Amino acid sequence: MGWNRMERVFPEGFLWGTAISSFQAEMGRGEPSKGTDWWAWVHDPENIKVGRVSGDSPVDGPGFWELYDDDLEMCRSQLGGNSVRLSIDWGRIFPEPTSDVEVNVKRDKFDNVCQLDIDNSNMDALERLADVDALTRYREILSSAIRHGLTPMLTLYHWPIPLWLHDPVESRDTKGNCKANGWLSQGTLVEFGKFSAYVAHRLGDLVDVYGTVNEPRIVAEHGYLTERGEFPPGLNDPELFLRCLKNVSMAHGMAYEQVKRWDKVKASAYGPSYVGLVSVLQSYVPADPGNPDDVRMSRYVEYMFNEWGLNAVFHGDYDMDADMVVEPGEQLLHLVKGCDFLGVNYYSLWRVKHKEGGHPLLSYGFEPCTGNCSEYGWEIHPEGLREVLAWAYGRYRRPIFVTENGIADAKDEKRVRYLRSHVEQVHRAIEVDGVPVMGYYYWSLMDNFEWSDGYRPRFGLFNVDRDTKRRIPKKSVEAYREIASKNSLL
Ligand code: FCB
Repeated sequence: MGWNRMERVFPEGFLWGTAISSFQAEMGRGEPSKGTDWWAWVHDPENIKVGRVSGDSPVDGPGFWELYDDDLEMCRSQLGGNSVRLSIDWGRIFPEPTSDVEVNVKRDKFDNVCQLDIDNSNMDALERLADVDALTRYREILSSAIRHGLTPMLTLYHWPIPLWLHDPVESRDTKGNCKANGWLSQGTLVEFGKFSAYVAHRLGDLVDVYGTVNEPRIVAEHGYLTERGEFPPGLNDPELFLRCLKNVSMAHGMAYEQVKRWDKVKASAYGPSYVGLVSVLQSYVPADPGNPDDVRMSRYVEYMFNEWGLNAVFHGDYDMDADMVVEPGEQLLHLVKGCDFLGVNYYSLWRVKHKEGGHPLLSYGFEPCTGNCSEYGWEIHPEGLREVLAWAYGRYRRPIFVTENGIADAKDEKRVRYLRSHVEQVHRAIEVDGVPVMGYYYWSLMDNFEWSDGYRPRFGLFNVDRDTKRRIPKKSVEAYREIASKNSLL
């Protein structure tokens, strides 16, 4: 693994790819996936009326479900990549509940689910419940990626969960006091363990690199903390936020153990299984560095949003009262299951201001971006990527993939610069700081369904014609290909 300082060459075997997720990119052609909390959420009339969601539907999406082979071919031929990051839709695989498959569940003295034993007869039962057509389609998608020279990275949980586990409208209306309350219940962890085991068992011959959970903090914050309430179930309660953050962090460990146990087949140099958490790490600074309240709040936000989940997964620190101190009862070492790599999603810098909100978790705000902003209002700050990479490696000592990095820019005016400047910071992290970064995934391959904001933010390297589904390359495609095909930034 050598590299040349002047030419900014990346280590041999570095993975270059783009990232997509199932809910955001699959629909638009073929059978839509209607059985998830996110489907229910974005179509709920009340949510649309009050502006929690845009009113757009994922059925108008890029149609990757049918068009995957051309898309993956394009990742290779037009982008020069050697990898792709995609996710698998839990609701497509298990449209019906798996809760009757009785597995042996161990709980600790605090009643936390801490281990699942899934045996061959459980696996047979899961097999009977799984949707064979959906599984077959995922096998075809992954095989196509491999055929086109792309090492797949598969995310197990990129947000939608089956409706039978999470009815987000009922949860919204009962403030989480309903049976299908998603990540508020550790029952969801058990089912996620079964799903992960099944995926590893049935797709493990095609996949080695797994992202367990995508951005636990975003799921918890946007579902249980923000005023707009834009993610399911749209609640605004620090206690529920913490419960969700805890359970989604624990979900990593559940999946980690199952994938290690059920995927024994080597599909690439990473095999048989290389399993990591995907975390969003952003730069936070005080809005007014001269204001001690802003300074304190900025540090608090950094702790809660960047560190909390990683401390949980790597150190077993579950700071449940969010006071920045881990008391003895909050250290749960037996929940540390392992993490082979860390996926880092990095986008921007946030200027934190303090506002009176009672609970500290309700006392932060972000200054609107006024300087160098994306059209989504996210402040562009490439140096922050190097900083979070160095910080995360220094602290958690795992190899890293940049699993997402990108910009919403419909006119494609800032994207080339954004891409090059961020890739340059990755190179510095490797060369100057000695961080073992092993790959970079641009978010996203093509314009897609941006959750509660629908089709407005345009993150793609390719534009998608809504009617014909034609992929139209933006000029950034060439810039990406230059870098990826040469494995260097010239
Ligand atoms: C990340 C998500 C991804 C996409 C980008 C813009 O938080 O993981 O699905 O929405 O933001």
